[in-house]
Amino acid sequence: MSRIHEALQRAYLERGKMSVSTDVDVVERTEAIPELAEPQAPPAKTELALENVAQYPWNPSMLAFPTLAERGAGVEQFRSLRSRVYQARYEAPLKTILIASGMPEEGKSFVVANLAMSLARNSIHHILLIDGDLRRPTLHSMLGAPNSLGLADYLVGKAGLADIMQRDQRAASGNTAGVDSISNLTFIPSGKCADNSSELVANHRIEELVASASPYFDWILIDAPPVLAVTDAMELARAADAVLLVARGATTTYEVAQRTKAAFSARRVLGFVLNAVKDTPHNRSYNYNYYYHAKPEGGSQDGQQKEFGSQG
Ligand SMILES: Nc1ncnc2c1ncn2[C@@H]1O[C@H](COP(=O)(O)OP(=O)(O)OP(=O)(O)O)[C@@H](O)[C@H]1O
Ligand SMILES: [Mg+2]
Repeated sequence: MSRIHEALQRAYLERGKMSVSTDVDVVERTEAIPELAEPQAPPAKTELALENVAQYPWNPSMLAFPTLAERGAGVEQFRSLRSRVYQARYEAPLKTILIASGMPEEGKSFVVANLAMSLARNSIHHILLIDGDLRRPTLHSMLGAPNSLGLADYLVGKAGLADIMQRDQRAASGNTAGVDSISNLTFIPSGKCADNSSELVANHRIEELVASASPYFDWILIDAPPVLAVTDAMELARAADAVLLVARGATTTYEVAQRTKAAFSARRVLGFVLNAVKDTPHNRSYNYNYYYHAKPEGGSQDGQQKEFGSQG
């Protein structure tokens, strides 16, 4: 790991006020690391009735959710990403997607939240959005949702699946004034987590959670912390059918993108979302701009666009 990466990793951990020591070769690790925590007893099996899930008056930020607008570049770009995700499902079974990136602040939470919203709107699909970033969770703030009980509580065995899920009150009651219907969206916040998030996500209960929730949802999207900083994302990836990577225009270097892709080499990688690109070959007029490419093995560094969905 380069000095720059070490410094970034240190800064990330310090920002999250954690006392976690991570192995510096984490990026090269492709196998699941051995369990760090005692296996927990599986939660009692409960039938999940989505209409009985707790409802709260969410207050999603329109800035964070360009997909909530009637129309516009953000709506279009995420619609396009949504189509690519649908296409990927034709290639191989696909329901649970981990959204990951190498470094902090590349737009993982922004992309996962807006992709979830895009999938939830204008469809009968049920979407489950999970905040898998136990260190620096942001999805609840973006949604204006409470973060009292969440994933961390499930992972330590303190709460069951139905206890940690929530939906928007207005959407569920049919009163969607001011906010387009997000009634198809169910959310699991991070919950309150101590410094042991790596141990928590390594205890296999995330896989149980996804398996239990899977019959009730058409899509399950999981937000992740940066994989080049901490091991959590690689643990979370075990619960997912595929990983969608995010790189940030003018920020993410080719080397970081390559190392990020290598970290998930044992997983199905759908491709990269290139986020926050001002000038792409497609459109030069607005800020929210994404295009998707997966670099072929041995590909050149010219960033040549290739169809999303390719492995490699
Ligand atoms: N396409 C975009 N256009 C404008 N702002 C964006 C875009 N993508 C992300 N941002 C902003 O950049 C900041 C970082 O984004 P975000 O929190 O999604 O990154 P992240 O990869 O999840 O970070 P972390 O690794 O810390 O969780 C946020 O303030 C977000 O609103
Ligand atoms: Mg994030």
